[in-house]
Amino acid sequence: MNPLRIALTKGRLEKKTVELFSEMGLDCTALIDKGRKLVLPVPPYEVVLAKAADVTTYVEHGVCDIGIVGKDTIVESGKSFYEVMDLGFGKCRFALAGPKGTDFFSGYNVKRIATKYPTVAANYFESKNMDVRIIKIEGSVELAPLLGLSDAIVDIVETGSTLKENGLEVIDEIIPVSARVIVNMASMKLRKNEIEDFLEKVEKAKEEQQ
Ligand code: PRP
Repeated sequence: MNPLRIALTKGRLEKKTVELFSEMGLDCTALIDKGRKLVLPVPPYEVVLAKAADVTTYVEHGVCDIGIVGKDTIVESGKSFYEVMDLGFGKCRFALAGPKGTDFFSGYNVKRIATKYPTVAANYFESKNMDVRIIKIEGSVELAPLLGLSDAIVDIVETGSTLKENGLEVIDEIIPVSARVIVNMASMKLRKNEIEDFLEKVEKAKEEQQ
């Protein structure tokens, strides 16, 4: 049988995930000295490092059995898989933010919202019964209100320093975010024992880390 394949999110969550895998007793040499190799052996598993949105795609399609990805990407993706565990790291939150001291909810004009997360933003404003115009931005969303492109942003806030340094503030908190383990739906049935074994090891390592 092929090794279980696990997709990890590059960047923000990478360091903590490698720490977790080391705590699980896995040999993470290939993950640390990865060079340009894309499929990495972490015996008994095979690991791929990918952009967050791609992790959900690989797991939905079953080319990876398991994924480790932020809740922000999960809620935005709308894709199908099981979300089985909260890893408790990579903590941040979705927030509505805007220029300091402005009253976002006043006035009758349709507000413009810049975001990397149009689905999260649309759901939030729908829940508020508010008609807004959503503008999709790919990075550094905080620039949009500074340039006059939008009245506010929906983005993840971790320390709050990006907002602060750019004269912005949180207007409303939307949902908390942290790293999650996701599992392909077919793999969950076909490779149940191996997946349960992996999850048990993760659970134990998490406890050790606390
Ligand atoms: C995220 C987010 C904010 C920042 C928040 O961006 O979009 O810009 O981090 O973190 P803080 O509250 O600790 O300042 P990221 O670094 O992922 O880069 P990007 O905006 O270029 O996508």
